[in-house]
Amino acid sequence: DNSPKGQLTKLHDQAAKLYHHLLVNTEAGEKALHYLTKRGVSRKLIDQFDLGYAVEQSDEEVLLEYAQKQQIDYQLLRQSGLFTEDQQGNLHDRFHGRIMYPIKNENGHVIAFSGRILAPKATQNEPKYMNSPETPIFNKRRTLFNLDLAKKGARQSGSLTLFEGFMDVIAAFGVGVKNGIASMGTNLTEEQIQIIQRITSQVNICYDGDDPGQNAINRAVQMFTDNAPRLGVKIIQLPAGIDPDEYVQKYGGIKFSDYLSQNTENSVEFHLKYLQRGLNLKNQDELMGYLNAALQVIAGVSEPVAQDLYLQKLATKFGLDKTSLVNQLAKIQPPSR
Ligand code: UTP
Ligand code: MN
Ligand code: MN
Ligand code: MN
Ligand code: MN
Repeated sequence: DNSPKGQLTKLHDQAAKLYHHLLVNTEAGEKALHYLTKRGVSRKLIDQFDLGYAVEQSDEEVLLEYAQKQQIDYQLLRQSGLFTEDQQGNLHDRFHGRIMYPIKNENGHVIAFSGRILAPKATQNEPKYMNSPETPIFNKRRTLFNLDLAKKGARQSGSLTLFEGFMDVIAAFGVGVKNGIASMGTNLTEEQIQIIQRITSQVNICYDGDDPGQNAINRAVQMFTDNAPRLGVKIIQLPAGIDPDEYVQKYGGIKFSDYLSQNTENSVEFHLKYLQRGLNLKNQDELMGYLNAALQVIAGVSEPVAQDLYLQKLATKFGLDKTSLVNQLAKIQPPSR
């Protein structure tokens, strides 16, 4: 494929090979390899995901020199997003001192990179992950990390599992959960939902067990309801303060798989729980506010039997008479959606 896009993709595939080589075969990559090993990323996973390393020294333009040796066109290099341009129009390697995660298209070709700093915590002037800019071959809104491998996983498991981060997808894959994908950053887009819907009829959302993760689940559920109402959505909430990768490292793959299969909620169950966040339900006003919000959610449930079950649970949980909840529900207009 000699089109400009084909050439850009080829350059990215080559760049991934170069970064991978630097990580696994050179002294420059030792520190990064050690970092990954310490994080529980096996050599097999490093190879499966083509992880790499971009050298630290900002005056060592390893990728640029490689590209120039191949006499790749300057304009193509400029467009690739792999380089930054100084005021004289000279190109420099964009990524330095980062673990390189190739981001691939559905066919497994590299179209972008995300680079992670080695330090456990990011500093103010250094983002933890630095992503390629948008290019003719990389549209962030249409990209899902690991879609190429997860498509096959989805055929076997009947679902895709949506994680927050690259490391979550990789750790899950390493313990046999091979249907994991991640959006680029936490905000899921309509384009990504259309792609998910094309591949599977069932999506599991497994974000980090922290407040941003909870809020992101809530937004994702809303997005799926609005844009793919026929797609089955299950939510898996992790224990507080832990993300899927950390869960795997801490408890191992068997417990992780068990957790995924035993802790699924549907979107109504999630929503009813999510609405309790930060409330003191021993306070009567706050409880009334919660019950009204909860009844709004239940009013949106179309099956009468399911409605009845949620009302029953709510009544039991707060020691209320179900009949009064039923009466109150009757006053609520179901949401128009
Ligand atoms: P997290 O902060 O949860 O990162 O962000 P993580 O995946 O757990 O990373 P580790 O374990 O510290 O290495 C979730 C996702 O948000 C995006 C990345 O896609 C990341 O995987 N992100 C996060 C960025 O794009 N830039 C950032 O600076 C941070
Ligand atoms: Mn430079
Ligand atoms: Mn997070
Ligand atoms: Mn995380
Ligand atoms: Mn993490």
